[in-house]
Amino acid sequence: MLKKLVFLGTGGTIAGIATDTADNVGYTAAQVGVERLLGAIPGLQHALGDSVLESEQVVQIDSKDMGWRQWCALAQRVQHHLARPDVAAVVVTHGTDTLEETAFFLSRVLDGQLLREKAVVLTCAMRPASSTAPDGPQNMLDAVAVARSESALGVLAVCAGTIHSARDVQKVHPYRLNAFDSGEAGPLGFVEEGRVRWVHPCPVVGASVCSRSVHHLSSAEWPRVEIVMNYVGATGATVRALCRVPATGEQPVRGFVVAGTGNGTVHEDLLLALREAQAQGLGVVRATRCAQGCVVPSSAIGELPDSQGLSPVKARIELALELINKAADAALVKTALPV
Ligand code: SIN
Repeated sequence: MLKKLVFLGTGGTIAGIATDTADNVGYTAAQVGVERLLGAIPGLQHALGDSVLESEQVVQIDSKDMGWRQWCALAQRVQHHLARPDVAAVVVTHGTDTLEETAFFLSRVLDGQLLREKAVVLTCAMRPASSTAPDGPQNMLDAVAVARSESALGVLAVCAGTIHSARDVQKVHPYRLNAFDSGEAGPLGFVEEGRVRWVHPCPVVGASVCSRSVHHLSSAEWPRVEIVMNYVGATGATVRALCRVPATGEQPVRGFVVAGTGNGTVHEDLLLALREAQAQGLGVVRATRCAQGCVVPSSAIGELPDSQGLSPVKARIELALELINKAADAALVKTALPV
């Protein structure tokens, strides 16, 4: 029992094709199905050992186009397979561009109990499948090694022989094969010649942020949370424009994450606009645009909650999920109230 590894395909460069095998940047992502990718990996049977492989194509997209609908579908399929007693782990092939967001999203919505027992391993490639020297097959073999490791728990990302946590992983380079980094937290481990060397235990997974099960997530509306940045000459104009009544068919903005300068500092006019948005009931969270470190709470900028060390893109997901929960709780109270 517990020997099956389920590969879920979502597209990305790992499934990309270029007309010229020497071209590693001018390709179309998401062209090859996950089953075909698996079939083309030399040494896969050996890496699998006594594990049995299953695969399923959930979506087939360039991850820049990932959205709420695709996330809900993916979360449901991951949770479905993870809950099966005969499945040891799930591996997701994904584009590198938004991999860190999908990893973090999954880590916040999947059943916490399952994530404390099993791993979801996201992997990817920087070169298309058609390349003369593609990195996807090795990354998939490394993902198999991690998925088979008894110590692998929670949502992880594996690229270029390095294992990252969903919370810390970040794409830091546009074309280098080793494009991911975990900042100050550092990687969780490495895959060396098919063997996993952990340098940190996988982070203990807390309760899912989501009060709805993943099977009910798709019935919720993804709240529009925008990211704004502080920079020299920043003003509050964008925030104020976004807070105005939306055009027909446009979703109203529910919150902002500000990627502040340094320790989350924000130009005074932008800060004023964000406070106005907060006063209107919108969620506002302050992160830093610095690539490393986190916003340290300070009385000087204390009125906007900080992102608790999350990068702006991850803070946006966290805020959106909080807003979904709030809306669900409010609907529950409404239905429970006597008429
Ligand atoms: C994508 O994110 O789907 C395309 C880029 C990549 O996978 O490297």
